[in-house]
Formats: sequence, C-alpha cells, structure tokens
Amino acid sequence: MALFAKLALALCAIFGPPFSLPLADASRTPIQPDRESAQANAHHIFNAIHSAGRQWGSSLKHNGFSFFPVVMSKGSLLYHGTPSNSPPPGPEWLAFEVEHAEAFVLFKTPRGNQQSQEPRMRPGQKPLGHSSSREASKPHDKNMRGYLHTYRAERDLNLLYVDGMSAAKTHKGTLDSQDLVLRENNTSPVWDPFMDELTRASDICDLIKEWGYDGFMRMEIGFEVIYCDFSVGVDLMTAKRTVPHHDQREDELMNPYQWVRAVAERYDGLGGDRVRIDFSSMVSGYFFPINISNTDPERPDLHRLAAAGLDELKDIKSRVRGVFTEPRRFTVNWQAVVDMIVTRFSGRLRAMASSKLSSSKFISELAVASLSYFDAPPLPGDITMMEDKDKNRTAEAVDACIKHYLLPTYLDQDSWSLEDGLIHAAIETVMSGICTKLFAMRSIILEVSSATPPFGPHIPRDGDKEQLDKAVEASRRIVHTLREELAWTTWRMPQVCPIDELLLTVMWPMGDPEDYWNPGCRPIDEISFSRRGYWRPDI
Ligand SMILES: *[C@@H]1O[C@H](CO)[C@@H](O)[C@H](O)[C@H]1NC(C)=O
Ligand SMILES: *[C@@H]1O[C@H](CO)[C@@H](O)[C@H](O)[C@H]1NC(C)=O
Ligand SMILES: *[C@@H]1O[C@H](CO)[C@@H](O)[C@H](O)[C@H]1NC(C)=O
Repeated sequence: MALFAKLALALCAIFGPPFSLPLADASRTPIQPDRESAQANAHHIFNAIHSAGRQWGSSLKHNGFSFFPVVMSKGSLLYHGTPSNSPPPGPEWLAFEVEHAEAFVLFKTPRGNQQSQEPRMRPGQKPLGHSSSREASKPHDKNMRGYLHTYRAERDLNLLYVDGMSAAKTHKGTLDSQDLVLRENNTSPVWDPFMDELTRASDICDLIKEWGYDGFMRMEIGFEVIYCDFSVGVDLMTAKRTVPHHDQREDELMNPYQWVRAVAERYDGLGGDRVRIDFSSMVSGYFFPINISNTDPERPDLHRLAAAGLDELKDIKSRVRGVFTEPRRFTVNWQAVVDMIVTRFSGRLRAMASSKLSSSKFISELAVASLSYFDAPPLPGDITMMEDKDKNRTAEAVDACIKHYLLPTYLDQDSWSLEDGLIHAAIETVMSGICTKLFAMRSIILEVSSATPPFGPHIPRDGDKEQLDKAVEASRRIVHTLREELAWTTWRMPQVCPIDELLLTVMWPMGDPEDYWNPGCRPIDEISFSRRGYWRPDI
C-alpha cells in the first residue's frame, strides 16, 4: 500500500496529476497575503500604520491601500449639516469636526430632488468640489435655513476605515480601495453630478452591514463617517436651526480657513479618544503579491490598486471580509511601536542630513543613536561576566537595534494573527535598514579616527580633521539614501525652529528666566546645564 502510494506520487511527479484541472478561472489559485510582499512593501506598510487616523500623513500618502476595523467610542460626537431637521433615512455623511459639517448646512443633493414628495429637503452633507453641488447650495429661497445635527454614539460603533485621502473624489487613485476592491470595479466610468457618492455609499453600506458594521470612515479635508442606518447606534442630540444667510457668498458660508484650522488640529491624530484602530486586523494591498505601479506614467511615485487584476482585487476583498467578520483583536498597537521609532530617529536624521550640522555634532548624533545597542569590549579590571572574545559586537549591536522597539510586542507573540506577523516583518525590515546604515556610518568614521582600541565604546571626535570631514560627508550621503527609503511624512512638516535650534522652555534643572517668560527657539550650542538661572535661587 505504502509502496503503491509512493509509486503513484512518483508517477505524478513525472507525468503530472492523473486528472486535469478545470479550465480558466476555476483553476486560478487565489492570491494570499505573504511575508515576501510585506517585506517588499515594508516602508509603505510602516508609513500607512504611522499615518492611520492622522490628517497630515494621510494627506501626503493620499492613495490608501489598507483597511482597518475601527471602534468609535461610545459617547463620541459626530456632526451633520443638512437642510433637514430630522435624521436621514439612509446612509449619510457625519463629520468629526463641527466646521466640516457646518459647511454643508445648505447643500441639496439629487436624492433630495428625487424624493421631493417628502416635505422636507433631503440631507446636505455632500461631496465637495463639484460645480453642481455649489449651485445647489446657493441660498435662493427666501427663508432658506439649514440645521446642524449633533449625534452621539450610544454604544461603541463598528466602522470600516479605508485609509489615505479616501473621501477625495479624484481619479488619482484615492478611491481605488473603495471602487476597485470593495465595489469590485462596478463603478460607472462616468460619474453622476455627485461623483457617484450616493451609489458608493449605498453599495458599501449594503456590503458592510452584513459584516456587522455601522458605517465606514474616510478622510478628505477632515475625517468623516458614512453612517449606514441612523435608527441604530446613534442618538440625535440636537438639530440647531442656523440663522438665515440671505446675502452671504458660499465662501463665507463655508468658512474655508476656519474649517482648515479645525482639521489641521488633527494632523497628528483625531484626539478625544474617539477612535481605536485595530492594527492587528489591518488588511492591506501591500500584503499581497500584486503590481502596485501607477497606471499614470506622470506620477510613478503614486501607488495604484488599478494595476492589479480584478481577480486579485477580489481576493483582497475576501481577505478583508474574513478578517473583518472575526472578533476584534487589538493584540498589538502597531502604531505605538512605529511612533516610538519615528520619534527616536526623525529629528536626529533631519539634523544629520543637514550640512549645517558640524562634523563633531554629526558624530555625536550617530554615537547616541548607535552606542546604546553596543556592548563595549571588556577591559582588564572590569566587573565582567563570561565573555566570548570572538563575538562580533557590531553584528550583535545591529541585531539589538533592530529588535529594540519590537521588544514590547513579543509578550503577546503567541496570539499574533497572520496580519501581526506581516506587520512585524515590515517593521523589522525598516529597522534593519536603519540599523545597518547607522553601523555602516559608524565604521566609516572609525576608519579615519585615531582612536584605540578600534571598537571602543566611543566614536572619537579627534583624528585628522579633513579626513573626518570627508568621512562625515560620506556618512551624510548614507543618511540621504536612508531618508529617501523611509519617506517619513514628518520630514515634510515645516519646523518651528531652524535646524540648529530647539524649542525650549524651563525643564528642571535647566532653564533661564527667559525660557519661562518667553519660551522659544534656542541655538543648540546654548543648550547646556549651565543654563539654570530660572531655578538657581532655590538650589
Ligand atoms: C505593472 O503595472 C504597470 C502600470 O499598469 C505596467 O506598466 C507594468 O508593465 C506592470 N508590471 C508588470 C510586471 O506587470
Ligand atoms: C475597471 O473597469 C474599467 C472599465 O469600466 C476597465 O477599463 C479597467 O481596466 C477595470 N479595472 C480593473 C482593475 O479591472
Ligand atoms: C561583524 O558584523 C558586521 C555587521 O554584520 C559585518 O559588517 C562585519 O564584517 C563583521 N565582522 C567580522 C569580523 O566578522
């Protein structure tokens, strides 16, 4: 029997399976999320996690590839601007910020016109940037009034978050995750006057209501929720009638700069404990072996889901369905891990990239960033434990550097999902790039330094000045390469202070009276522990 089975297997190996597979589509093996893709797209995954739920990063990385389940906390407030004074009967737009909703108080929509048998006008919070919607908003009617609705989540709400600038009704790729994945490319190539938003909302609501979701979360100039059924999960707290606006222009009604200021408060996150993103349930196009190139050769920097095949996009959707219909995980807060990494290295790499930073300061930045992972060789007289003299201290330090910010996550490794494993692989790949480059720079600088022993605990600041400057220049080129690979959006945010200054106030034991009464930018050369005049009378 065993022999027969072996023989059969051997024959199969030679002649192929003894039956023919069904033809065409049915024979296709669905694509699966895999480690190689997560590693190939490591930086994109890292940045998607960093930008999730944040207006700044999501604006710059505006083509979203990822889906996250989000729990909106019970008690959170959401706003809706509309010409109607009662809750909408179907899916509608809710804003996270008052200013965002207020802009739509006087908007009318085609659905409103279609349903004109109803006495009240239909809801208004509708897509931006389209001429017919602008016309609709003009307050022609004499007593044209609008209402600002405030809703409160009466329980935790389950939302599907499509990342990037996913409420931007553009052809740049911002809608790919909705129109190509969730809607399987059934979007009409010609948009209706409301940019297909009504069918988009109802298609996606139909889909996710079956999965147990209350709505989906997106971002434009502000975050929003398309809420699917107002009879469950939210309470209308107030519907305030606005004062009539007979003679104001649309621009004044919409208050664009106040709206921008309100949403700019969310550059670094939505705040107010309003949403919790389940990073362990992230499903991303970046996890799959698909072509992510732009179909538009003018913008090779933008990724598109449009270059993938529809079958592959359907495979991604079925993974989304699978993960999103399981219980919420919240195993690891991967954004917290990514934040610790970005805050450790972003300012440092910004400074190191600048030619305004002197060689000695460059070396000192590098030393602080790398030496905490380095176990210096023992010297006679040290209290040392057993030491392997031949161990490669650099390799060990690189490894410690890669693992450092991942250490908290290993406590729960036994309960990691496939997605946790893929995200871990991506972060590990990003850290490996950072750490190998830090230690490559270190060895370039050690080569020209006169210090002994060569692998000592400090990167020396002496040595031939000209040679040292050259080594720093070579290292700075490595910093530039690293920054291009990492592509962190933090580097595109203008800074309060110039590169050689820091924002300072008193922080005991440091600080001058001026730092208390007029906190501001101070040259890094003036930041030292002799700066303590504010506290001095008391010590
Ligand atoms: C990926 O997609 C781009 C854009 O559609 C296309 O030009 C390119 O040939 C594709 N690459 C592969 C390997 O299929
Ligand atoms: C989506 O449909 C359009 C035609 O409406 C087609 O040109 C395009 O290639 C399709 N995209 C995908 C990813 O199948
Ligand atoms: C030690 O490890 C580093 C980093 O992996 C490597 O570049 C170096 O060649 C190794 N040194 C020795 C002596 O093996």
